[in-house]
Amino acid sequence: MSAPAASAPGVPLPPPVTGPLPRGCTFAESDWRILANFWYPVALSRDVTDQPVAAKLLDQRLVLWRTSDTLTCANDLCLHRGVPLSMGSLENGDLVCAYHGFRYDACGQCVKIPAHPSAAIPPKLRLTTHPVREAYGLVWTCLAAEPAGTFPELPEWDDPAYQQALPDPLDIACSAGRQLEGFMDVAHFAFLHANTFGDPNNPYVPNYPVERAPHGLHIEYRSTVGNYLRQDGTEAPPEEGVLRVFDCFLPFATRLKVHLPDGAHLVILDCASPVSARQTRLFAPLLRNYDTDQPLEPFIDYNVTIFNEDRAIVQAQYPEDLPIDLLEEVHIRADRTSIAYRQELGRLGLGEAYTT
Ligand code: FES
Ligand SMILES: [Fe+2]
Repeated sequence: MSAPAASAPGVPLPPPVTGPLPRGCTFAESDWRILANFWYPVALSRDVTDQPVAAKLLDQRLVLWRTSDTLTCANDLCLHRGVPLSMGSLENGDLVCAYHGFRYDACGQCVKIPAHPSAAIPPKLRLTTHPVREAYGLVWTCLAAEPAGTFPELPEWDDPAYQQALPDPLDIACSAGRQLEGFMDVAHFAFLHANTFGDPNNPYVPNYPVERAPHGLHIEYRSTVGNYLRQDGTEAPPEEGVLRVFDCFLPFATRLKVHLPDGAHLVILDCASPVSARQTRLFAPLLRNYDTDQPLEPFIDYNVTIFNEDRAIVQAQYPEDLPIDLLEEVHIRADRTSIAYRQELGRLGLGEAYTT
């Protein structure tokens, strides 16, 4: 089959990130040095409060902590004796190591060694810190000093017409690429999601366009598969179908906006955060501009049920790596998005040995 048309330049190619790889890195080195260029969420904002929090991204162990005006992300390693700082505590705005009490300020600089309180502290006693952003209820970081790519966009988050929901992160034993591709796959609704929004009698996938965009991919898919049993009990799919607009922010985030009848919109930002080559932490802010007077729990539960239906499949797929070489798996017309996604990951430089 023919490849999707290239209609806009893609994500600029980032330079390989230099420096040592994380200990026990599960990625091929060349892949890690590319993936480390991008922003990924590593925690919910609401979970980073008055104590340090551990996280892991691309096999790098991280610690997050918040002071009155700063949120810091650093490698989770005390410079003294290799103790995770996430085991420590926050005192008067400093992160205090659990072992010998070294204190680190919000810049990661060691500011006190309790065993020698009057000794000068060398400036190089400073943690390796990383850029941090908070957006859509999530804490994001990047392991490169200068992040590349387009930061995933979710304008509805700040739109008062929309109700926000933030499920707890979902841990999935799969590569981030497999999860994200599955989120954009439109041919599985009738089978995997037959108990939620899919219709077992409606497996047909109409043709649809896939466009390259500066952030990655833009896909507009119209079908007669609905998405949500609304609170009033009416099924969603109308005669003219339901439009799903996917915007993929390479490498591992996709915003889906589902255009339901009567101007109702469901928006999901699927962020497959690569913990390691075969472990993904899914963060998925949800928004809706309908049923906004209804409680959030059923809305969250319904979408988490769908994510768990997908989870069972992506955990079982093999090879665990998303094959970048298009010859490795068979493709059908409905897979236009997957084909373009794999091509774009390949264009970023991710190799045949996507993971090790
Ligand atoms: S290991 Fe952290 S202060 Fe000694
Ligand atoms: Fe799915």
